[in-house]
Amino acid sequence: MTQRKRIVAGNWKMNGNLSLIETFSSTIQPKEFPGVEIVVFPPFPLLSNVAAKGLKTGSQTVSEHDAGAYTGEVEAKLVAELGGEYCLVGHSERRTLFKESNEVLVAKFAKAQEAGLTPVLCVGETESEREAGLTEEVISVQLNAVINQLGVASLENSVVAYEPVWAIGTGKTATPEQAQQVHKFIRELIAQSDASLAAKLPLLYGGSVNDENCDLLFAQPDIDGGLIGGASLKPEAFKRICESAVGNV
Ligand code: 13P
Repeated sequence: MTQRKRIVAGNWKMNGNLSLIETFSSTIQPKEFPGVEIVVFPPFPLLSNVAAKGLKTGSQTVSEHDAGAYTGEVEAKLVAELGGEYCLVGHSERRTLFKESNEVLVAKFAKAQEAGLTPVLCVGETESEREAGLTEEVISVQLNAVINQLGVASLENSVVAYEPVWAIGTGKTATPEQAQQVHKFIRELIAQSDASLAAKLPLLYGGSVNDENCDLLFAQPDIDGGLIGGASLKPEAFKRICESAVGNV
């Protein structure tokens, strides 16, 4: 048994609506999953509706700015006011489709924490980076961006999610061994700066997790839960994944 927090989070991306919140909240009752924190990352406008159902929630990104003339952006403090407790930072879709650099992501990470949100820092390599043997280097750069700018202590109130880009939405999950190897690397890298923080930090795996492959992934010693995309839109499958975390993580 690990003493780390276990988390199963659903990233709805640009999906979901009021009706999904109804089916989701009637299927998933958080008290049925003792010891597992269940978090939903819906599109921004649904945040307070998810929170009103008694589910933990958070945003999929947040602005790196304080409130002001930034049309279309959402301030971290507003996410907190609407009942958000978490915030994804650096999801690969934000990095690639919205060209978010490590520098911008560090600013978002800091704004999230200032507002009292727990940032979930997403890291991961592309297929070509893996094939070129660059996985550890890419992840080190992504993690060190935060550690070097904000200090290792900033990871105290955070979560790290390893999401290999090649496994996101492709049905090509990392094998439990591949995922464990990278999670161990992440924990060791952080331990070089602060061993006790590294031992407590929840590390989530994401990338084509479903109700069939979750058991073996969650059984790995350095995997403390999952960040689930497609399967989080199917309440029954997501429920099964939450059940798996109760027994396995
Ligand atoms: P899938 O589970 O659909 O592969 O998405 C993973 C993800 O991007 C979660 O943030």
